[in-house]
Amino acid sequence: MPPLSTSAPGVRQANFCFRCIACGDVSGSASQNFRCAHCGDLLEITYPHWKEATSTAQEFKSTWVQRRLSQSAIDLSGVWRFRDLLPAIESDDQAITLREGNTPLYELPQCARTTGVPRLLAKHQGLNPTGSFKDAGMTVAATFARLAGFRWVACASTGNTSASMAAYAARGGMRSLVLVPEGKISWSKLSQALDYGAVTCQLRTDFDGCLRLLQELVLRAPVYQLNSINPFRLEGQKTLALELLEQLDWQPPDHIIVPGGNLGNSSAIGKALLEIHALGLISRLPKLSVIQAEGANALVRTLREAGGKRLISVQAETRATAIRIGNPASWKKAAHVLDATGGACEQVTEVEIAQAKAEIGAEGIGCEPASAVTLAGLKKLLKQGFVKREESVVLVLTGNLLKDPDFTMEFHRGDLFKGTPGEEASAALNELRRPPIVLDATLDAVIRTLEQAEM
Ligand code: F0G
Repeated sequence: MPPLSTSAPGVRQANFCFRCIACGDVSGSASQNFRCAHCGDLLEITYPHWKEATSTAQEFKSTWVQRRLSQSAIDLSGVWRFRDLLPAIESDDQAITLREGNTPLYELPQCARTTGVPRLLAKHQGLNPTGSFKDAGMTVAATFARLAGFRWVACASTGNTSASMAAYAARGGMRSLVLVPEGKISWSKLSQALDYGAVTCQLRTDFDGCLRLLQELVLRAPVYQLNSINPFRLEGQKTLALELLEQLDWQPPDHIIVPGGNLGNSSAIGKALLEIHALGLISRLPKLSVIQAEGANALVRTLREAGGKRLISVQAETRATAIRIGNPASWKKAAHVLDATGGACEQVTEVEIAQAKAEIGAEGIGCEPASAVTLAGLKKLLKQGFVKREESVVLVLTGNLLKDPDFTMEFHRGDLFKGTPGEEASAALNELRRPPIVLDATLDAVIRTLEQAEM
């Protein structure tokens, strides 16, 4: 089984090392399960040579802008364009890229009006090649999987990681193994994995069960694990923050709000913010806040009931299936970055998620349910006074609207909450529903419908 070493072929020696987040042990190589050889906790990637970095903040910024004029594959990637802050590869053509990143930062004028926060923006990671933020991490981790000589990559997933992994494995000439909870992920995500050629196993368990099994599997079989436990994934996902800050001309917003599931993304964004702050690219830290679904609120409970000292796992249940996770792997990393940036952690109900999703849809943007927790969470943080109306806020929309059409159809048809505890509260959302209308194919019928819609 090839070792995951910083000295693997194609990896520039000493550009980075692995550090345990708990005991601080630093090593040039990592075991198959990306856990510390001494204490078993998660690893993160660090860059010892940054201490004697010769580039100034201004030089980094202008290098990244100049690369936008280039037509080379690595510069066209919105992730590898920032490669100065990523694990280095020997030659540019080693990167497995689908031109990920480069996602838009949209204004949300209607949501700005309804929430009373005039400076409200959405960074739409759902416009990545496979429709979710996972691509930014996957381009880096898949590249290092191939450099380490692996033929097989594998992940446990609520759908988006598997879609992304399958695509990048296919592009990189590797085979992929997907473990997903049976009946608990959306068809459109599942269909992506199938089309990109993954061996897809629907396991009779939940996401947490899939991840547990994967962690055992990687110790027994020569497969490279591409979950966000893999620290290369988080390095790629860091670039979301770099691209966002560049789009804001390096003027940090007051708040960045992200959904929380397995907590890799919040950890990655937080790591990026702390790194670029230390390197002098930004002069102050935005507050990074994480929002979870009430039914999958492990981090909320961990922070409230255990002071962030030990994980409180939950039996996860939510229609936002992407974040239906009860035992988040990266909880310690996320707790650290929330603390370091002064962010908050909140939970929102199923009805609040559905409302926020419809409101983001009505902006002509749309997102999947898990992404909508950000807007629902913002409303709560405003009520609590944690976010002030004059402050600037960026919501990170993690997945594309088309990722979960069943949720959207059930919402607009009025079926989403039938027979659930949210049924009564959801009546308030009727105004947002736009069910399809079946008509006889006559001009009269269509004109009448148009007139009714105008009223
Ligand atoms: N939003 C979407 C659309 C997701 O797919 C996920 C996670 C999250 C938010 C939460 O991000 O786990 O980094 O805290 N999806 C994973 C998957 C777990 O398997 O696709 P996180």
